[in-house]
Amino acid sequence: MIEVDRLTKRYGNLKAVDEVSFQVEKGEILGFLGPNGAGKTTTMRILTCFLPATEGTARVAGYDVFEDAMEVKRRIGYLPEHPPLYDEMTVDGYLKFVARIKGVAPEDRKRRLQEVKETVRIEGYGRKLIKHLSKGFKQRVGLAQALIHDPEVLILDEPTVGLDPNQIKEVRELIKSLSGNHTIILSTHILPEVSMTCQRVVIISDGKIVAVDTPENLTRQQQGAAHIYMEASGSDVAVQRHLQQIEGVLSVVSRPLGEGEVSSFRIETELKQDVRGRIARSVIEGGFELLEFRSLQLSLEEVFTQLTTQEEVRSQ
Ligand SMILES: Nc1ncnc2c1ncn2[C@@H]1O[C@H](COP(=O)(O)OP(=O)(O)OP(=O)(O)O)[C@@H](O)[C@H]1O
Ligand SMILES: [Mg+2]
Repeated sequence: MIEVDRLTKRYGNLKAVDEVSFQVEKGEILGFLGPNGAGKTTTMRILTCFLPATEGTARVAGYDVFEDAMEVKRRIGYLPEHPPLYDEMTVDGYLKFVARIKGVAPEDRKRRLQEVKETVRIEGYGRKLIKHLSKGFKQRVGLAQALIHDPEVLILDEPTVGLDPNQIKEVRELIKSLSGNHTIILSTHILPEVSMTCQRVVIISDGKIVAVDTPENLTRQQQGAAHIYMEASGSDVAVQRHLQQIEGVLSVVSRPLGEGEVSSFRIETELKQDVRGRIARSVIEGGFELLEFRSLQLSLEEVFTQLTTQEEVRSQ
């Protein structure tokens, strides 16, 4: 549905977007993740025909964002970082105005207005002035204007920024409910948001893509090794020596816990074979008491830090 191929945007010497390529399948939610200044908004503005690219191409539903901008705009709903809401207008007045400029047929406008208000749950707010709405409700009106012409594709730039935790939850659920019928790209620098909402993630840093994968694969692959946390009784030195002899164990770090003879162990093992059973059995057979045993996973946050800081080092 969306194909981005070696997209580049230069501002003088700065490459705000640097040969970015990715694809989004129909019905998918793609998370666009990156630190401040990574190039998220710039990419989104190119995809929504607000900004020309310096090089490369982007296509939406087969139409080029530069050559067929009208066709692309018809199919895209865009929630910008700062939605252009007119404070002095009522919600209905504003949404009718957007429907008109987005080319919704006059006979369909009333129905669409009703439908989007239901979708974003602002049915009772039509007559309110936009300036009297809370931030969360303004964001919903922003989403409503992105949806009014019933686009297949939604581009949402930091849709939950500035909202309170309840509103964040509601907006996330709303976005999830829109997937399937819509293809969605959403940008964020909130990591849990990505694991909760998106099927796939593009991580961008300094204008370049540093990873494209599912949140699960990202946390798995970036580790290079599997890690296990274990607590056992017995002398930590003895347990550690025992662990180091087990096939598939790469390294062991031990730490005594409190006064008694209980220690914790962080065991690094090969990724290609699952050695958890072997380790657990061997510890017990070695005469030690196994008190806790679990796999450790890097959080998406750790993966993100690794990927985006590696990139900084490389580009210096
Ligand atoms: N009009 C412009 N002129 C010059 N530089 C710009 C312009 N717009 C953006 N930039 C620069 O391009 C880079 C990417 O900016 P962009 O707004 O795309 O980042 P972002 O990932 O959306 O960041 P944030 O998380 O802060 O919203 C930044 O270094 C920014 O300063
Ligand atoms: Mg931005």
